[in-house]
Amino acid sequence: MTILVTGGAGYIGSHMVQALSRAGYRVVVLDNLSTGHAASVHNGELVEASLADRGELRALLFRHRPTAVFHFAASCQVKESVENPIYYYKNNVSGTLNLLEAALEAGVSRFIFSSTAAVYGEPETSPITEEHPAIPINPYGWSKLHGEAMVADAAKAYGMQYMIFRYFNAAGADPVNRLGEDHRPETHLIPLALRAAMWEEQELQVYGNDYPTPDGTCVRDYVHVLDLADAHLRGLQHLEQGGESAILNLGTEHGTSVLQILESIERVTSLKVPSNVVVTVQAQSGERYGLRVPFRLPPSFLTNLIESTVRPEGVSSLRSSRSSGVRRESALGIITTLPDANDSPARREKAIVPFLPVSGLL
Ligand SMILES: NC(=O)c1ccc[n+]([C@@H]2O[C@H](COP(=O)([O-])OP(=O)(O)OC[C@H]3O[C@@H](n4cnc5c(N)ncnc54)[C@H](O)[C@@H]3O)[C@@H](O)[C@H]2O)c1
Repeated sequence: MTILVTGGAGYIGSHMVQALSRAGYRVVVLDNLSTGHAASVHNGELVEASLADRGELRALLFRHRPTAVFHFAASCQVKESVENPIYYYKNNVSGTLNLLEAALEAGVSRFIFSSTAAVYGEPETSPITEEHPAIPINPYGWSKLHGEAMVADAAKAYGMQYMIFRYFNAAGADPVNRLGEDHRPETHLIPLALRAAMWEEQELQVYGNDYPTPDGTCVRDYVHVLDLADAHLRGLQHLEQGGESAILNLGTEHGTSVLQILESIERVTSLKVPSNVVVTVQAQSGERYGLRVPFRLPPSFLTNLIESTVRPEGVSSLRSSRSSGVRRESALGIITTLPDANDSPARREKAIVPFLPVSGLL
């Protein structure tokens, strides 16, 4: 059976492609490589095209006739969406509409949509369940909520099955296959903190220390990217077995504060994360997720999350590189150095191999 994965060259999509291939599906990836990397597509065919190209979308869907579409392709930076909402509505809303239309024409019967906990806006209760009102507070969240509505309405009208997954904060990396998080620019806490630990001069900016949380920093729910991929696979299998369409949150129901993440990184790498508290960006973006989830830390999960992004030899060579004052990329051992196809063979060779199994929490 063939599955189309849009955004399969991106962080979460590339882990999904791998999970689908391992489960025996044939995978075709559609990605315009705007934020993804061709080198991340290890299995299946990569078609470099945009959701904006309706002709190419239609041709691709009719050529491969996938039984299901996994739709990860999107722009997903909150701050950027506030600065350029039209672009976000075009890429995320029009892009999803183009894809849906072509998929329905080609007879696709299952649609799995990547949504986000950002659709909930300011949390009124915690933990956030699927019944929590969905009132986003930024264009990114709205663009995803519009996408959800289009998928659910089209499915109802035209007899398609769907799963809509609202993820909390994806983190971690594949333990064996050189996949990982490499957003450029990077906005996610764990890769940024690992970089700050590696290069002391790059101080990590901690947004706010006055949250109503035990240590004053923002608490979020981090979910391992391999657990996300596993949940999507189970979602597909659920639909294949005739299960009902659904909207589901994907998180752990465990909160972790920024300071806890930094402490965990320091424990795993034995390196200090230089950091500085700033509050202005928080106020600008209007994003304030304090007490999103209960402050209960499962230590083994958090350690797994961090360790899965660092390989052991990376940590030790990183230490020696810092003590010798030599700045060498080969010392990183951090998943955020995932190479591009355009990178030199030497840099590609130095890509990351994380090493610990994931939690299997889901
Ligand atoms: N990373 C997270 O923590 C998180 C949390 C909640 C939801 N999500 C959702 O998960 C999905 C994947 O996120 P990610 O972190 O892997 O992001 P990512 O930027 O790594 O991946 C997105 C991929 O989509 C591609 N793309 C973007 N616009 C496209 C277009 N018009 N045509 C074709 N390809 C296009 C990009 O090149 C990239 O490969 C997104 O839909 C995002 O909203 C992510």
